[in-house]
Amino acid sequence: MLEKVTLKILRYNPEKDAQPHYERYTVEAEPTDRILDVLEKIKAYQDGTLTFRRSCAHGICGSCAMRINGRNRLACKTLLKTLDTSKEITVEPILGLPRVKDLIVDMTTFFDNYKKVMPYFINDEPLPEDGRERLQSPEERARFDDTTKCILCGACTTACPTFWADNSYVGPSAIVNAHRFIFDSRDRAAAERLKILAGDSGVFRCRTAFNCTEACPREIKITKAIAEVKRAIITGRLD
Ligand code: F3S
Repeated sequence: MLEKVTLKILRYNPEKDAQPHYERYTVEAEPTDRILDVLEKIKAYQDGTLTFRRSCAHGICGSCAMRINGRNRLACKTLLKTLDTSKEITVEPILGLPRVKDLIVDMTTFFDNYKKVMPYFINDEPLPEDGRERLQSPEERARFDDTTKCILCGACTTACPTFWADNSYVGPSAIVNAHRFIFDSRDRAAAERLKILAGDSGVFRCRTAFNCTEACPREIKITKAIAEVKRAIITGRLD
């Protein structure tokens, strides 16, 4: 059943606006529509200048992370029926990164921090003689299963008060992606990554605020992963 929904969107055009400001748009939408559908409708029928990122529209690419009613979410996974549509829905860009235009922020710092932890498989040892892939047991694979789910949307890092205060902190997303390789039995660069994460920009900047875990659209247990990395640094053990 179609209903009228009003979005209050934080707009900012650096070529025209000294400061960001809110604009309101009312559209007809179904309860099963997502915030991304509503944004597309506004852009197509009311204001073609509205600017936001989107790509897959199915919760995989991580492009459409934004603040919806004050909470970081993916616009493509947020159904209207999960929100109170009798009130305005506030849509803003994620925090802690420079605004580019409307709902788009500059992700450069986020990806620079990601690269610092070497988020890729490292093992220079020769492949097994039979030429097959490097095997691991189901238990070894399960050790880092949760942190393989990250889609690099930035919802966690841009919900973190430590990152807001200083974005030299690598942030929860980078730590999650480091965790994915640190605890992979086939990888050989755990010690190097742990050394990076033991440094000034690393895991000990985390104050266990839990905002990251609440914000993650993939429900990764981020604070637990951070604690496991801290423990590995302190004990020197990867069990
Ligand atoms: Fe930030 Fe998450 Fe730690 S919100 S302070 S990285 S628990």
